Formats: sequence, structure tokens, C-alpha cells
Amino acid sequence: MGEIVRLQKYIAMSGAASRRAAEKMIDEGRVSVNGKRITEQGVKVEVGCDTVEIDGKPVKAETKKIYIALNKPAGYVTTLHDQFGRPTVSDLVSNDIHTRVFPVGRLDYETEGLLLMTNDGVWANKVAHPRYESTKRYYAVLKGVLTIPSLNKIRRGVVIDGKKTSPSECEIIEIQSGLTLVEITIHEGRNRQVRKMFEAVGNPVKELKRVQIGNVELGNLAEGRWRHLTSGEISYFMNK
Ligand code: URA
Repeated sequence: MGEIVRLQKYIAMSGAASRRAAEKMIDEGRVSVNGKRITEQGVKVEVGCDTVEIDGKPVKAETKKIYIALNKPAGYVTTLHDQFGRPTVSDLVSNDIHTRVFPVGRLDYETEGLLLMTNDGVWANKVAHPRYESTKRYYAVLKGVLTIPSLNKIRRGVVIDGKKTSPSECEIIEIQSGLTLVEITIHEGRNRQVRKMFEAVGNPVKELKRVQIGNVELGNLAEGRWRHLTSGEISYFMNK
């Protein structure tokens, strides 16, 4: 679904006329929507869906492309609507961003950290599609002490859902009070992959946080907050 805007704004977004001039054109009966002449102000149209014509010639508005990094807290779903009424990541951005942006890939309900969101489907596909293998870096708190043989298994690949994971980089950061903090970088994005990998070696994940995707780092972005990506971060994926 595209952005819903007033007709005069749509015309202004297309570059065909200013908003004021567009209002005049509507008054003069020069504008039609989906073949129907519009003469009253305030009609709303959907970008990318409705057909708008001025003097019989189509004009096309483009929604501005938006790319953001969100620090998702645990307890939010990455779908746009949740059948159980749980909070969604859209709730965290919709106050400030008036265009519909959708999550790129997923993070589990309980997982926190870096989530990219955009309204650019082509770009989203490049980031999330397995073929492009964007690297993803996580911190995970594991139950129990991760042994060196288990660490090596994680690095080489473990079988989850009947298929071996591709090699990953994994380091133990700290072992304390029967828990192990690890940093892990994976090059695929299978469903609940990190959780399943550590389950496979007998160290279930207690907490999981994503801190990097490709060249985009979470950095010190506060929990629940978002920022625009830089042009370098956006083009990194475009050029893959
Ligand atoms: N791996 C997981 O298990 N969960 C996530 O949310 C992301 C990666």
C-alpha cells in the first residue's frame, strides 16, 4: 500500500505544479483521478495506485525513499500488525515518520537490537535476500558454559532444521555466573538461526541482540529509538 495524500500534494510531489497551482487546476476541472474529473478540494489519492491526470496527461508522484535503523527493544514484533495485539515496531516509528515503512527481514519478538526499515522494496530485497548474504553480528548470552569444542562446532557449522549452517565467526567475550557472553557473526538469515545454533550445542540463548547488518552498526542508538541511514550505508547494499 502506498502513501495516501491529498490530490494537490500528489500533484506537487510529481513536480507538475506547486500545491497552490494544483488547487487552481482542480478548481478549473483540469484534474482527473482514475478517469473521473475532480472539482472539489480535499480528495485523497494513493501514491503508486491511483492514476492522476492533468488535462488528460498522466502525472506520477514518487514517494520519498526512507531508510532507517531502529534499536528494537525485546517485546515488539517485526510484523506490521500482530494478531495477538502485541506492540509492533511500527508503533515505535509511526509518530515521526508519516510514510509507511516496513521491516527488512525479521527479529524475534524477544530479540533486541538493529532492525532496518524502509519503503524501498528493491533495497530491502538486496539487504534481506540470502543471495546477497549480508553479514549480521550479534551478542548472545547463553545458558551454561560454552566449551571450546562447542565453540568450534558453531564456527564450522551445525545442523539446524536438517541443514548445516555456513561457517560463522564466534568469540567468547565473558563467562560469568554460569552464563556465557558471545559475539557471533553469521552470513545467512535462517529463521531463529542464532537461537537454533546454540540450542544445537546445548547452550540455549537467554538474551540476543543484533548489533550490525552489513556496514550498518547499532552503535549507541538508545533502545526504542531510530535514526536515518547515511548515504554510505544505503549505497553499501545498493552496490552489492
Ligand atoms: N537469530 C535468531 O535466533 N533470532 C533473531 O531474532 C535473529 C537471529
